[in-house]
Amino acid sequence: MQILTTAAALQAHTENWRRAGQRIGLVPTMGALHEGHLQLVRAAAAECDAVVASVFVNPTQFNNPDDFRLYPRLPDADAALLAPAGCTALFLPSVAEMYPHPAIVQFDFGPLERVMEGEHRPGHFNGVATVVSKLFHLSRPHRAYFGQKDFQQVAIVRQLVSDLAFDLELVAFPTVREADGLAMSSRNRRLSAEARALAPRLYQSLQAAAELVRAGQAAPAAVQAAARAQLAAVPGLELEYIAVADADTLQPLTEWHSGRAVVLCLAAHLGGVRLIDNVVIGWFGEEVE
Ligand code: PAF
Repeated sequence: MQILTTAAALQAHTENWRRAGQRIGLVPTMGALHEGHLQLVRAAAAECDAVVASVFVNPTQFNNPDDFRLYPRLPDADAALLAPAGCTALFLPSVAEMYPHPAIVQFDFGPLERVMEGEHRPGHFNGVATVVSKLFHLSRPHRAYFGQKDFQQVAIVRQLVSDLAFDLELVAFPTVREADGLAMSSRNRRLSAEARALAPRLYQSLQAAAELVRAGQAAPAAVQAAARAQLAAVPGLELEYIAVADADTLQPLTEWHSGRAVVLCLAAHLGGVRLIDNVVIGWFGEEVE
């Protein structure tokens, strides 16, 4: 596995691979890799000839300076995990390399980003779209792999690919969970033992809410209230939001719409660590991966 630190080096490799007729897979990450990331890399390796994994803690998508400062950075451990997973090249740029000058172009995803993460983290998706666009241009992937744990991010990137005609296939992968249900996240490393023990309650509350949706008796507001009440009982947990939304438009639901999938998304702070999770429920009650 090669480690590339400059945009020029990545572009040169990409050009060679393309010229040789190789299919390129891109797995964009912010590092501190876990099994969820590695599943994306393994899938890319199975489906593509060359796999680029980027590890870049992107400052422009953090609205909280402490969150950016404390975000785990483990480039050596990441490199050691990526090679055996089938990664061809690790792109590990500096901030100056990715942002030789501050970006002026701004992205606005309209209603898609006025809810959930976009509503609670102003500017977040502008930063995501900026860095993802740069990574797409530099690595020119045939396929780009993202985890569904960031459900709204996948919707935003899908819109980006469509609106800007990026010639690539977006692949969204199901959330990978610990044995007790906690969604894998780089931020989990920052949980104290106490917070870690309580963290599975997030997914449990989503599962209980999903059961209510499936039972078809409770209105969206009642489902939301039930999840809220369940989470209020978790010591030290501060719920930022819980959304009951249409899985395609991400708009909050006031009633159920026949034939449409529903997504339940939440963000909560536990012992100073911000965690997100979601569950998608198909119209027939199936959990959508
Ligand atoms: O999901 C992430 O880790 C980041 O938002 C991404 C897509 C790598 C962009 O910085």
